[in-house]
Amino acid sequence: MQNALDIEFVRRQFPAFEEPSLQGQAFFENAGGSYTCKPVIDRLFRFYHSRKVQPYAPYEASRLGGAEMDEARERMATMMGVDTDELSFGPSTTQNTYVLAQAFRQHLEPGDAIIVTDQDHEANTGPWRRLAEEGIELREWKMDAESGHLDTDDLENLLDEKVKLVCFPHCSNVVGEINDISEICKIVRRNGSYSCVDGVSYAPHGFVNIDEIGADIYLFSAYKTYGPHQGIMVIRRALGMTLPNQGHYFNAPTLYKRFTPAGPDHAQIAACAGMADYVDALYDHHIKIQSNAAGRAAAVHGMMRKAETELMQPLLDYLSQKNSVRLLGPDDAAGRAPTIAVELAGNGEAAATQLASYGIMAGGGDFYAVRALQAQGIDPDKGVLRLSFVHYTSQTEINKLIEALDRTL
Ligand SMILES: Cc1ncc(COP(=O)(O)O)c(C=O)c1O
Repeated sequence: MQNALDIEFVRRQFPAFEEPSLQGQAFFENAGGSYTCKPVIDRLFRFYHSRKVQPYAPYEASRLGGAEMDEARERMATMMGVDTDELSFGPSTTQNTYVLAQAFRQHLEPGDAIIVTDQDHEANTGPWRRLAEEGIELREWKMDAESGHLDTDDLENLLDEKVKLVCFPHCSNVVGEINDISEICKIVRRNGSYSCVDGVSYAPHGFVNIDEIGADIYLFSAYKTYGPHQGIMVIRRALGMTLPNQGHYFNAPTLYKRFTPAGPDHAQIAACAGMADYVDALYDHHIKIQSNAAGRAAAVHGMMRKAETELMQPLLDYLSQKNSVRLLGPDDAAGRAPTIAVELAGNGEAAATQLASYGIMAGGGDFYAVRALQAQGIDPDKGVLRLSFVHYTSQTEINKLIEALDRTL
């Protein structure tokens, strides 16, 4: 039995819910970027006020700044079941993927193959597809045009000894189905290939244990997981030390510096420890038994999913019944994230504009998932309306959304 989330407690951790200018606005564009939790804001404030010096020097402000950056990496890594140096920060997931693709560009030989999907956000497909220019063979794992589902039988048919890397999403930002990434990573590993998982659309709904899942690379964006604007990348040691170093040559022995060539954003990295504070605060409030960091993250993940699926099912039922609406992805809450895209007769952004006039913050467009929309027969220029929420969303907000949809669709 999962504990029920104390929604009042949850919302008290987010200053946005107290912010006067946001009153009367229900937020349904969380997949674009979530509200930021208070521990992250506090840490950011503290860093800029008291530690804004070059970190890792012997004077106190600097020592503390460096220690907070290390703390962020250490706590995020232990929550996700990996070693501290297997987790690194970069400006965004798109940029992290780009750097990784440069490393693979040097590592692979002409004739090697990479599998990409047509379900991904462009960040985890475009940089890989460009490697075709180097003689790398690109194979596309296509989703079902109706359901948006990625079938593992189709993946098996694409695999052979030439395939060195398989890139796929934990969850697409327009289909919403939660892909069985443990199973996919197992298939990929059995083939002797590496896996690169885009976790951006899933991570806001709970941090996963990468060691248990078996992914070689797992990427997500902290600004969607209640944190600052950073991309977070887990690369397992065996792969990370095999790929050519993309950082300064003298940093090559340090795994977490190998794929982040730019100078790091000290304050934002330090503030990422606030995401771990938030997970711990949720855990301590709801569960009284001692546990390690990965155990706490798993328990909080379970509570978040329970809260979300309960709120999501009636909304999915409502949308599936509407004749004027095509719901993308599964209509069963258990198999999907609450990132719910719908195709309308008209333009997605126009519907979002109308919703805004009723106090609903939602988005319309292609969400950089142009290939995924096209693969489902949707004109990206028309786009979709996307309604995305997370565990801090309340029943009152869902009711308000449904009322507004009634007037809009
Ligand atoms: C599924 C998915 N992957 C990747 C990205 C890109 O992340 P970033 O903005 O950190 O580059 C996004 C951003 O919306 C996304 O939704």
